[in-house]
Amino acid sequence: MRIGVIGAGSMGGILACHLAKRGHHVSIANSRGPESLTALAAETGATPVSAAAAAQVGEIVILAIPTKSVADLPRALFANTPSSVVVIDIGNYHPDLRDGRIEAIDRGMLDSQWVAQQIGRPVIKAFNNLFAKSLLEKGVPKGTPGRIALSVAGDSLDAKAAVLRLVGDLGFDPVDGGDLDNSWRQQPGTPAYCHDLEAAALRHALAEADRSRIAEYRAEQEARIKRHIAPQHH
Ligand SMILES: NC(=O)c1ccc[n+]([C@@H]2O[C@H](COP(=O)([O-])OP(=O)(O)OC[C@H]3O[C@@H](n4cnc5c(N)ncnc54)[C@H](OP(=O)(O)O)[C@@H]3O)[C@@H](O)[C@H]2O)c1
Repeated sequence: MRIGVIGAGSMGGILACHLAKRGHHVSIANSRGPESLTALAAETGATPVSAAAAAQVGEIVILAIPTKSVADLPRALFANTPSSVVVIDIGNYHPDLRDGRIEAIDRGMLDSQWVAQQIGRPVIKAFNNLFAKSLLEKGVPKGTPGRIALSVAGDSLDAKAAVLRLVGDLGFDPVDGGDLDNSWRQQPGTPAYCHDLEAAALRHALAEADRSRIAEYRAEQEARIKRHIAPQHH
């Protein structure tokens, strides 16, 4: 497939590398322009392009940028992108650690619903609940015992099916996470967030999440990350 990746950091770089290795034609963009991506391109086999080009070239576009940066994307970025193109949002809202406060999300809009509103088109939520290290190292062929499962949430069944196939292609068991209104079940800090679960356990984790705890889950996750990155005193 032709796949555009917007964001060339930890997640975008790894996704581009894995996808190119599997024979996809990957175009990748960051905020600084294609000339800053020469080394990554040589390493991954992806073609460096502008964000505008990455939004146009593929059958799939992956948004792999910080949530706050979605608001900085050019307004008309997807204006000429055919409606058949699937946009995947892999982002997580981290207000304290990175993004600052986004009022609409704090008032209850789901992370990916806000992203869809910002870019003016539907998104499929996937890959947000897997740490970069697991994405890098833990994809394995179908049928391998202990294979990690990843949930995919979104409203268009066709678009979701394409992303579920991509999840399998990258070495993970695809699990349908429901429509976008259910995507809170895989947001930061939920039982389904970054625990590298197998399919049955992931389904159980998605089902047991508590909608009234979305903000609490997020705060707990940010606290966990802060503890993890705090300087160690010996
Ligand atoms: N890291 C993880 O383990 C992980 C796991 C799952 C989900 N996520 C989520 O995935 C998203 C990306 O995370 P990451 O860790 O890959 O971030 P990262 O390493 O900080 O990389 C961010 C990338 O976004 C690009 N970018 C920022 N603003 C942009 C813009 N306006 N236009 C085009 N590109 C832009 C940056 O380009 P420049 O460097 O040129 O500015 C950079 O390449 C975040 O929402 C994160 O929460 C992360």
